[in-house]
Amino acid sequence: MSEKQWRCTVCGYIHVGENPPDVCPVCGVDSSFFELLSGQAEAPANAHVVAPAPVPTPVGNIQHGIKQALYKISYGLFIITSAAGDKLAGQCANTCFQITSDPARVAIGINKHNHTHAIIEASGLVGISILGQHGQDLARNFGYRSGYNVDKFAGLTYKKGQFGVPLLEQDCVASLEGKVINQMDCGTHTLFLLDIVNGDSMADAEPMTYDYFRQTK
Ligand SMILES: Cc1cc2nc3c(=O)[nH]c(=O)nc-3n(C[C@H](O)[C@H](O)[C@H](O)COP(=O)(O)O)c2cc1C
Repeated sequence: MSEKQWRCTVCGYIHVGENPPDVCPVCGVDSSFFELLSGQAEAPANAHVVAPAPVPTPVGNIQHGIKQALYKISYGLFIITSAAGDKLAGQCANTCFQITSDPARVAIGINKHNHTHAIIEASGLVGISILGQHGQDLARNFGYRSGYNVDKFAGLTYKKGQFGVPLLEQDCVASLEGKVINQMDCGTHTLFLLDIVNGDSMADAEPMTYDYFRQTK
């Protein structure tokens, strides 16, 4: 049986095996970021053999068609930060979206293995720095490494919000500060619902989209 090849859609790492890895060993994203490159059912060698009706190719636990359709959802790109005492955390995320405008409420989806998840759970405080189109270095700095292993804020300039969360300014177009008011267990991730308590718009430049990052990273 031929081995399947899985490509990390964030960093391009190739994994060979029956299933994608739980976590990309290069950039740290979870298995949902992997796409199947090979291992699809082969066409029958004998033309007289009637091929079975095509079945959707599973990718991880997700049907191929669902995976392809999910790629068509548009996202922005954000640095989600938090602080608990003197501990700072920050990660890149695309799952950040407004739920209501009055009151201003935003939801974020954060992997339970992430350092940022632990600090958000500890403090209930969240900073959202909205990346501009020149924010690729920030996305790499915060998206491919874990705060469990490195200090991602070393050498970076940032301000602190009213409740102490780091807010990045360079290569960002706006920032928000929020407090967790509810959360939902989504399996690998937690969906945190935030009340937005402060906001600041720094630049009139175009915000980064997830699609633009993937094209230019
Ligand atoms: C473009 C991009 C988008 C990402 N989106 C998310 C996301 O929405 N939610 C999430 O939990 N992780 C996401 N990640 C992965 C985290 O940023 C990554 O696992 C990070 O290293 C976690 O850092 P931490 O352990 O310091 O919190 C994304 C990474 C990249 C590069």
